[in-house]
Amino acid sequence: MYDGVKHLCGMRTIIAGNWKMHKDKAGVADLITRLVAGVRSSPTRVEVVIAPAFPFLGMAVSMSFGEGLHVAAQNCHEEPDGAFTGEVSAPMLKSVGISHCIVGHSERRQFFGETDEAVGRKITALDRVGITPVLCCGEQREERENGRHFDVVATQLHTALAGQDPKVFARTVIAYEPVWAIGTGLTASAGQAQEMHAFIRSELVKIAGEGAHEMPILYGGSCKPDNAAEILAGPDVNGGLIGGASLDPASFLEIVRIADAPMP
Ligand code: PGA
Repeated sequence: MYDGVKHLCGMRTIIAGNWKMHKDKAGVADLITRLVAGVRSSPTRVEVVIAPAFPFLGMAVSMSFGEGLHVAAQNCHEEPDGAFTGEVSAPMLKSVGISHCIVGHSERRQFFGETDEAVGRKITALDRVGITPVLCCGEQREERENGRHFDVVATQLHTALAGQDPKVFARTVIAYEPVWAIGTGLTASAGQAQEMHAFIRSELVKIAGEGAHEMPILYGGSCKPDNAAEILAGPDVNGGLIGGASLDPASFLEIVRIADAPMP
């Protein structure tokens, strides 16, 4: 059984909170204050990342500075600047201290028509400014029922990562988020998660070579304190991308604690 070896062999463990379009300025400030207090009182080896909405990123960076919290954006545009009303570029994010950026979240794919090719261009844009892309992939329910889930995820990864400068791979984080598990209360079983994570690792080896063994692969989809230990125990599960449970500081901090603890 896994006994905390993942920490010891140098692989980062990341717990990232995707706050989506939730919370106003006061709500974001309150949540960060509570997370800072939690991380201060229980320092962790886990890379803790929070992703508030765009208007609050600068404030989040100021509040998190030196406190062991990294601040992510939830999206970016692929061009560095230009006439793209309503968009935010990677250099803009860099200029306010953003360290990570989620790309290709299933909600962006579903509601904003984001393609694998566009996701790949966003990864390139982020790499140019030294921001860590968190590349989301995952199948729809019908795709799993039809046995196509491995093909779907492989296509998402190969298309977004094809032709990237090899140094991109040293920085990129993958998040496997089965779409049928996001916000539904359904989760992949620990076995389903590990099976897909091992498959993703094998595809990453084809794309990135041996460096793939250093690429963290996070699980996302209704991950909560009561199922985190089981899911995070998988040898290829290197952390979580947490939606709903990340809006509650006690739940999020508990998942961080679980991710840091040796597994049973
Ligand atoms: P959830 O969301 O934890 O609420 O399922 C995960 C995500 O969308 O990143």
